[in-house]
Amino acid sequence: MLTLQSLLSLPVFLSTTLIAHALAAPDGFIDKEPNRYDIDYEAALLGGDGCNNKQLKMIREGFVDMNQLFKAAVQVDWDGDPEHEFFGAPERIQNYTMLIEANLLRASQYANLKGNTENRKPDIHVRCDDPNDQCGDGDGDGKHVAYNIGNEPHINFCRRYFKLDPLDQRVLEATLDEDNDMKLMRYYNRGAAWARQVMHISAVGQAIVEKVVPGIDSNSTYNPNTTNLNSEWTTRISMGAMNTSFLAGVKNDHPKTNGPNNIQTLNYVYGAKRAKLLAVFPTQMPYDTANNAENYALYALARYVMKTQGFYPIKPILQYSSEMALLSDKDVLDGDDKQNACLQKSDVVPRNRGTNFVGEAIESASPSSMLGLLSTRTSSAYLLVYGGLVYALVSSWLA
Ligand SMILES: *[C@@H]1O[C@H](CO)[C@@H](O)[C@H](O)[C@H]1NC(C)=O
Ligand SMILES: *[C@@H]1O[C@H](CO)[C@@H](O)[C@H](O)[C@H]1NC(C)=O
Ligand SMILES: *[C@@H]1O[C@H](CO)[C@@H](O)[C@H](O)[C@H]1NC(C)=O
Ligand SMILES: *[C@@H]1O[C@H](CO)[C@@H](O)[C@H](O)[C@H]1NC(C)=O
Repeated sequence: MLTLQSLLSLPVFLSTTLIAHALAAPDGFIDKEPNRYDIDYEAALLGGDGCNNKQLKMIREGFVDMNQLFKAAVQVDWDGDPEHEFFGAPERIQNYTMLIEANLLRASQYANLKGNTENRKPDIHVRCDDPNDQCGDGDGDGKHVAYNIGNEPHINFCRRYFKLDPLDQRVLEATLDEDNDMKLMRYYNRGAAWARQVMHISAVGQAIVEKVVPGIDSNSTYNPNTTNLNSEWTTRISMGAMNTSFLAGVKNDHPKTNGPNNIQTLNYVYGAKRAKLLAVFPTQMPYDTANNAENYALYALARYVMKTQGFYPIKPILQYSSEMALLSDKDVLDGDDKQNACLQKSDVVPRNRGTNFVGEAIESASPSSMLGLLSTRTSSAYLLVYGGLVYALVSSWLA
């Protein structure tokens, strides 16, 4: 029989355990402290076309996670292992270190809090309605996690994005898995997916554009009537928005007939193995790493793991004695990290006519409405507590 004293103590006991349970539920909030995702940034996420509230929440949380990653990556140490592996050895990357640092710095400025208008980065139009049909459930589709539209601050999130874990949960699980904790891709999370997309925004990621044009004089414009096609080729270097590099050679305007260029296949560089190949392989240009959004995302991820866990997840380790060895590695050709991108397609696509560029303000993804969600969850936990109490009372009377 329940005494009055034990009855009085019951709600306290029940409420703490039940609420703790509700907060730790797999789909619920893990943090008991004020929601760590509740941050008011200077740059806003707009639009949300075709996204439901749950998806908007995951998009916003991934954005916060991305800001954590870039925060860990702004202090570049050119003697460090992740720098060598994802951008190249010092003698190879020396001409592009400032470009890389500037790109990382601009990406990190998305973490600027409300009111910090210096170096403000453009608001980002986020969406889930796949206007370019790249998310890919059918044939010929991109099968991307997310894609950028037109190098604008405009990102579509695909079904695969919503299957990724939040940053801290993924890092914790990967660290605890002792057989695999050295594999960087085990740490891949929403923030890393976001990081690649943000690098594609022209106000953030800048890259080297190399155009090979006929003619000795780099001043002259190409005129098919007058330019002597037997003359030397001239390389024009300029800057442009950052896209995705190709494996085995950059895409350029070289006609196919010019030289043995047939290893230039359109295999885009996503995933750690391919990203690291860009940094070492002789067929790649020294700036291919600096030009590849994925390399920044994975570098930032590696730096974040080092900062929070104290070690560098060094795998995959590349061991290629020759180009032939590389080309016969099925993993490289098929891709070691298939789930995170379609290797045959760029994740930057032009904006279609008729696709709205500017997104409307999103009310439901605002921090305050996320607190609303939290309190709904908490009150349902209380409901359980009092349901339990009534049940305990009734059964004690019946006893
Ligand atoms: C760096 O730039 C200099 C001057 O343009 C050039 O001569 C050199 O080949 C470049 N080095 C590398 C590794 O790209
Ligand atoms: C990336 O793609 C855009 C659009 O096609 C192009 O304008 C830009 O020059 C490209 N950037 C590089 C580095 O090639
Ligand atoms: C290239 O253009 C600049 C400026 O128009 C001119 O001064 C220079 O002489 C030109 N170079 C050649 C090789 O024509
Ligand atoms: C090349 O010649 C054709 C035929 O004479 C002419 O129509 C065209 O405008 C010329 N192209 C240029 C760039 O001058």
